[in-house]
Amino acid sequence: MDDRSPAEPLPAHVAANREAWDRWAPEFEPRGRRAWAEASPSWGIWNVPESEVGLLPPDPAGLDVIELGCGTAYVSAWLARLGARPVGIDNSPNQLATARMLQAEHGIEFPLLLGNAEAVPYPDASFDLAISEYGACLWADPEAWVPEAARLLRPGGRLVFLTNHPVFMLVTGELEDDPPAGDRLLRPYFHDRRYTWPDETSVEFHLAHGEWIRLLRNCGFEVERLVEIQAPEQPSYGGGGGLPGEEVPFGLASREWARQWPTEEAWIARKRD
Ligand SMILES: C[S@@+](CC[C@H](N)C(=O)[O-])C[C@H]1O[C@@H](n2cnc3c(N)ncnc32)[C@H](O)[C@@H]1O
Repeated sequence: MDDRSPAEPLPAHVAANREAWDRWAPEFEPRGRRAWAEASPSWGIWNVPESEVGLLPPDPAGLDVIELGCGTAYVSAWLARLGARPVGIDNSPNQLATARMLQAEHGIEFPLLLGNAEAVPYPDASFDLAISEYGACLWADPEAWVPEAARLLRPGGRLVFLTNHPVFMLVTGELEDDPPAGDRLLRPYFHDRRYTWPDETSVEFHLAHGEWIRLLRNCGFEVERLVEIQAPEQPSYGGGGGLPGEEVPFGLASREWARQWPTEEAWIARKRD
């Protein structure tokens, strides 16, 4: 592992999320292992195949890629198999330990950095693609990580990120054993972008659609697509989301719910020339 890491102290939300993800890392190992074994990408908690959502550039071969909040780094592994040159950065030493173990098992090597995606130790214009699947795009402050992604990308480069849809955030409970998403609004749409959970020490960030568009444009991006992901009718177990037999992935929402409303969304934006 590359041991370049940002100067301490970390911002409070980054330190809190490091502690939380180091604690959660063992639970995520089986999902990471499963996703690393998949030959082709599929996305989010419903494992929607890349062929249906088209989040990646048509030919990633030769692209320099930074994965922001790579976790177990299966997205980088898929991209490496497609001929790209990924670098993964993550804030959790324990998540990176899983990523390193899976690299060794699969014989696929790429740099893994311990660090905060809000301050990546690479020069300007180092990458063609910045990608994050429920990574820094959810757990880092968008007012910091989006400008950083813009700095890291070359003109014409793409930012792709997948996170919770605001509709889902309106109807999801606050406690781990709350029921999955229902049909009643439980939270305001207009809120501070920061979410803390009553029973957790971690911090998430969620923006309304208008706020994402404002921020992306202010940082020099053109929004190309917003993909609002619908759960497929039948289970598909391709990637790092739901596991076989898991009817309500992560306890978040039933397939029936996610057939009617979006649990997650992916943004694709291009850095202006
Ligand atoms: C859901 S996981 C990773 C997603 C990845 N697709 C996977 O499942 O392996 C979220 C990751 O974001 C990382 N993370 C949280 N805050 C971060 C930050 N500020 N900078 C970099 N990584 C961060 C966490 O350490 C965690 O590994």
